Amino acid sequence: MSARDLDAVGLDAVDLDAGDPLAAFRDEFHLLPDTIYMDGNSLGLASKPALAALHDVAEAWKGQGIDGWLGGAHPWYHLSERLGAMAAPFLGAQPREVAIAGSVSVNLHQVLATFFKPHGARTKILIEEAAFPTDAYAVKSHLALHGLDPADHLVVVPSAGGTALDEDAVVAALNGEIALAVLPVVLYRTGQLLDTRRIALAAQACGALLCLDACHSFGAMAHAWHDDGVDAGIFCTYKYGNGGPGAAAGLFVHEKHLGTRPGLPGWFSSRKDKQFDMDDTLVAAEEAGAYQIGTPNILSMAPLLGAFDQIARAGIDRIRAKSLALTGYMIERIDAQLDGLGFTIATPREAARRGGHVALRHAEAARICKALKDARVIPDFRPPDIVRLSPAPLYGSFAEVAETVRILRDIAVERRYLAYPNVRDLVA
Ligand SMILES: Cc1ncc(COP(=O)(O)O)c(C=O)c1O
Repeated sequence: MSARDLDAVGLDAVDLDAGDPLAAFRDEFHLLPDTIYMDGNSLGLASKPALAALHDVAEAWKGQGIDGWLGGAHPWYHLSERLGAMAAPFLGAQPREVAIAGSVSVNLHQVLATFFKPHGARTKILIEEAAFPTDAYAVKSHLALHGLDPADHLVVVPSAGGTALDEDAVVAALNGEIALAVLPVVLYRTGQLLDTRRIALAAQACGALLCLDACHSFGAMAHAWHDDGVDAGIFCTYKYGNGGPGAAAGLFVHEKHLGTRPGLPGWFSSRKDKQFDMDDTLVAAEEAGAYQIGTPNILSMAPLLGAFDQIARAGIDRIRAKSLALTGYMIERIDAQLDGLGFTIATPREAARRGGHVALRHAEAARICKALKDARVIPDFRPPDIVRLSPAPLYGSFAEVAETVRILRDIAVERRYLAYPNVRDLVA
């Protein structure tokens, strides 16, 4: 690669940034000084509207005390449902099908406790080999709670090299023995986007229920969960949702299942007008709010008022278009500049099969991530050999993508990663 070629890369990026319809949103974030942030798929940067909303709710607490539950601009008593309605358009859901509550892991336990009802020959749960650990732990625990041995009742669809999942294999594994399938929309390591409509239709055809994990797609792309007949879904809000560390998570229950008794009820599962009757018999809500459990974490939900409004203003389709342009540009740069340096792209190249990040495999991935951080580029590492790079569409730029790949090239050409101990101590 000559210096001239590198200049051309820079010019491309300048042109692309100049034509970016979402460029103004960059100012709505607290960017890290002199740093390129490529980790929006783990934790979105601090959004100014999200922090303003948090401040408003804190002020309501200061000014109203207990009356904040029912008073003020955002009565806390209704916040789970209100935020659910704000998130619903990003999921292709009806407002009453979504609630914001708890964490992804807790919400998955709720979905399993509510909808995994083994009966007759239909006793199995289907997941994929590269499932996020919480998903695998949760499904195994629910099999065990039903006295079912995961060795016989957990169907794990293999994925090539533990990463690339073949949808044909998923569809082939859906049969009359599967009670529930738990699958990601986007695989967290490789960024592979599944054809969830095809999978939802296959699940319906064989009578299995489908729960989707949208942690890596929520806020990055549109979904069509209501129309596709997806039974249940879970998602986090701290990645592309920009809700902040540990922000409350989301859950989706399709209209056709609303009214199903929650498996893990609490008093916040109640119909709103019945909750303060304090009766010891639950009258459950007839909306997704029924599947929350206890008092909502208001301060972990407040930022979402600003963050969801920001996504709505940007437009989820424009967000997806920019995300694809950024990752497509990154793939082009990687092809042009990292050839022969030991990298392979683990993310599918086709736009329709790509999520929001690009996964690069390299034998020295852990040390390369350390070298990137020291060069003020924030990636993340996923064992055994993946560098994940996520140019977030609301605040990432094409110039940052070009610069990231240029820095990666320098690190690899100069073997700068050798300066770091070969330990996998990166978390994110
Ligand atoms: C795909 C996926 N599923 C589940 C989780 C677990 O989410 P939580 O820790 O918020 O419960 C994560 C967290 O990053 C994830 O990426």
